[in-house]
Amino acid sequence: MPESLPQPATNAASSAALRSLYLNLLKRFLTNTLFDLEPDIDDDEFRFVRDRAEHYVKGAALSMLPLARLDNIENCIADVLERGVPGDLIETGIWRGGATVFMCAVLKAYGVTDRSVWAADSFEGLGGWPRLLGLCDIFP
Ligand SMILES: C[S@@+](CC[C@H](N)C(=O)[O-])C[C@H]1O[C@@H](n2cnc3c(N)ncnc32)[C@H](O)[C@@H]1O
Repeated sequence: MPESLPQPATNAASSAALRSLYLNLLKRFLTNTLFDLEPDIDDDEFRFVRDRAEHYVKGAALSMLPLARLDNIENCIADVLERGVPGDLIETGIWRGGATVFMCAVLKAYGVTDRSVWAADSFEGLGGWPRLLGLCDIFP
């Protein structure tokens, strides 16, 4: 890297800021809200249900979860790490897998290497038998 470019941040505050930038960008990508708006939960119920189906089911979002739910997942994982609660993470019923990918990314962003993320789904749409897939090994 040329010396004239800013050098990588190394202190804890900068690491937290970079982690936040990365995870927030990933949330926008997974929820297809980089260029599209989220369906408005304060809209009338009919429009919200219709827009939700359009955005999360017919659209390109990789999770049915809105941004606020991905924030919640991140906060839950951070809490588990802070308290030292042992164990792996799992999403049961993954749809397109966006929330599972996000959990892998949170572990990576926090430097966690001793936990896995598991995806449980029939992988056949509705119905079929549940199957498990370990994901972190294939997440870059
Ligand atoms: C509403 S979607 C889950 C949404 C996902 N959690 C998200 O955040 O985008 C329900 C999921 O459950 C799965 N599913 C349905 N029946 C199942 C079964 N019998 N065993 C395992 N998975 C099943 C479907 O394949 C689908 O991916």
